[in-house]
Amino acid sequence: MTVHIGAKVGDIAETVLMPGDPLRAKWAAETFLDAPRLVNEVRGMLGYTGTYKGNPVTIHGSGMGMPSLSIYANELIRDFGAKTLIRIGSCGGMQPHVKIRDVIIAMSATSLNTPSMGLFREVNFAPTADWALLRAAVTAAEAMGQTPHVGGIYSSDVFYDERPDLTEQMTRHGILGVEMEAAELYTVAARLGARALAVLTVSDHLQTGEALPSSEREQSFGDMVQIALDAAFP
Ligand code: HPA
Repeated sequence: MTVHIGAKVGDIAETVLMPGDPLRAKWAAETFLDAPRLVNEVRGMLGYTGTYKGNPVTIHGSGMGMPSLSIYANELIRDFGAKTLIRIGSCGGMQPHVKIRDVIIAMSATSLNTPSMGLFREVNFAPTADWALLRAAVTAAEAMGQTPHVGGIYSSDVFYDERPDLTEQMTRHGILGVEMEAAELYTVAARLGARALAVLTVSDHLQTGEALPSSEREQSFGDMVQIALDAAFP
């Protein structure tokens, strides 16, 4: 047991899917895994372990934002031996060709700051996805009939961001979408020797103001779970 995860060592699989919302972790585990069992509920951050095609998998919430994700990623890797961590979540679209419902597979994650930044001093570390996982996720998405966007995203600390020029600079530099967790996931995984990836659905759009209707959110979330599982076990 750790401060934030009430599981026993061995309760957590080497492969962990991380949605932001703990209730999405519950839904995904009950929908996609065989024999899912609750392994954590400290602070309501639900984690389930079951199997997918015979392979052990944990689906564990990350909470919103890099500080929250950082706690869980650190403990999952350091204390429970997680080796592959895949974030599944939503993002805001930042390019005209990136549409609502589209899937983004994040090759890199730009940020102004991460909880790891203090370690680097003057270095601008480039948080990067694991290549084999990324390639497998693209293959899995294409096999499902999707045409995923693959490229850079922006991990923000602010959802209600009132800095218009920042959005403009990100857009100008080809950033595909904005979310709030991937840069720290990639950095912690790199530091601790694990593999990481973020698979995202565009839930809203910063330029058009469009948003995915809530009735469609479950379907698009399910597609991401499937892509992540197929990427982990190609
Ligand atoms: N900003 C930050 N995170 C997000 C957004 C957004 O617009 N949409 C979904 N996650």
